[in-house]
Amino acid sequence: LVIVLDFGGQYSHLIARRIRELKVFCEMLPYNTPIQEIREKNPRGIVFSGGPSSVCQDDAPVCDPAIYELGIPILGICYGMQLMARQLGGCVSPANLREYGKTELSVLIRDGIFSRLDPVERCWMSHGDLVELPPPGFKIIASTEKAPVAAMANRSQNLYAVQFHPEVVHTPRGQDILKNFLYNICGCSGLWTMGSFLDQAIAEVREQVGDKKVLCALSGGVDSSVAAVLVQKAVGDQLTCVFVNHGLLRKGEAEQVQKTFKEKFKINLIYVDARDRFLSKLSGVSEPERKRKIIGEEFIRVFEDEAAKLGQVEFLVQGTLYPDVVESGTATAAVIKSHHNVGCLPEDMNLKLVEPLRWLFKDEVRVLGEEMGLPEEVVWRQPFPGPGMAVRILGPVTEEKVRITQEADAIVEQEIRKAGLYRQIWQSFAVLPDMRSVGVMGDERTYAHTVVIRAVNSVDAMTADWVRLPYEVLEAISSRIVSEIKEINRVVYDITSKPPATIEWE
Ligand code: XMP
Repeated sequence: LVIVLDFGGQYSHLIARRIRELKVFCEMLPYNTPIQEIREKNPRGIVFSGGPSSVCQDDAPVCDPAIYELGIPILGICYGMQLMARQLGGCVSPANLREYGKTELSVLIRDGIFSRLDPVERCWMSHGDLVELPPPGFKIIASTEKAPVAAMANRSQNLYAVQFHPEVVHTPRGQDILKNFLYNICGCSGLWTMGSFLDQAIAEVREQVGDKKVLCALSGGVDSSVAAVLVQKAVGDQLTCVFVNHGLLRKGEAEQVQKTFKEKFKINLIYVDARDRFLSKLSGVSEPERKRKIIGEEFIRVFEDEAAKLGQVEFLVQGTLYPDVVESGTATAAVIKSHHNVGCLPEDMNLKLVEPLRWLFKDEVRVLGEEMGLPEEVVWRQPFPGPGMAVRILGPVTEEKVRITQEADAIVEQEIRKAGLYRQIWQSFAVLPDMRSVGVMGDERTYAHTVVIRAVNSVDAMTADWVRLPYEVLEAISSRIVSEIKEINRVVYDITSKPPATIEWE
């Protein structure tokens, strides 16, 4: 076990993730965790994260200085370095020049955490304060033009610190630095796997839930699916999942969810066919935000009705991921779209949250899903919005339009899979604009729907770039759609990125 002490840095969780990538189990704790608690966990190493504060301020977050006497190797990063310098008698000054971005690093001592590095490396700096003088017993082990003490070490006590951020990709050898620290200095063996995470997560859910009942709103997406299966492994029949078919799902999705969860995992699954309920509420509604509100509210109603039948439930499972945790912490952004998540359930139900995936990133959740034996179609399914096809059908939603969109979408998915591109693409799907045009088919004039193909790549859905799909794939999609779906006579490709467009059309 390695502990990351979090001083509030924007990359703190990235540090934890990088450590896990090196197959070392790690846990993140707040900076003010009592020393006794840290000692009891008996970690092999401790990493101090960066943070937004300045150690020169009176109210700066500090850890108990007794931590340096535990004999456990410590790596301080950015704020963590400044704190270590200050607590051990070095000198930190508020920098006159803030430094931000890629910087050349001269590695002075290519040993210890810098073992096997080149004399000059690139690193990512983002800081205000600077260590001017290392504490007694420390040596300067790297410097940059603006930061003469860019890294320092006290080898006899196994204390190391770097001013730059080894956890970000802009420090190309950053992972090697962390690896040196973990393997060579802390003596970690790198044998930890997602399987061990699973054991730990199951134990934690058991402890949290006890013998109480747990409810889960299953959407069929990766996150809620993995969370549900994990919780079922932990508490078995205490878990009930509710899956609401709002009629706006992808083709075959409702059947697949039932097959996977009911048949394969033997989960208590309440399947609610609410297609008519949603369609009638949406009847005649074109305005995108109204559609979203209607679906969100109706979802809550359906869910409440089902939950009420179960009697006293205390916990609600959510597939919250680490990026969701971060984003909701900084939610000052303008509302572009009101997101409907299976997560947004009524507060007055008074349910306590079980969020076993809150430390993981999407790709880690996928690995976990595979580990638990979830089928490939679930684990690698592209993201799908809560309001489903409703935000891909412009104008009023009707049963016929849903069917046309589902059919076109299924063809897009099949052809993208056939081309071996499905996993590489963030999202690829069909959109049905509220528009018809003239065509000709077998000497006959047609006046039929247009379908838009959208394919984007993205890392976090905040920005996205349209995918340069091969012409042959576009060709296959287009000819299949017009020949197999009689209501469509024209196929176009959306070549806008986000921004200025969004991924979905509404
Ligand atoms: P936009 O269209 O805003 O979408 O660029 C960004 C990402 O979010 C998904 N999306 C949603 N996901 N509930 C969800 O759970 C929603 O209401 C929702 N709206 C959009 C979208 O598919 C894309 O991945």
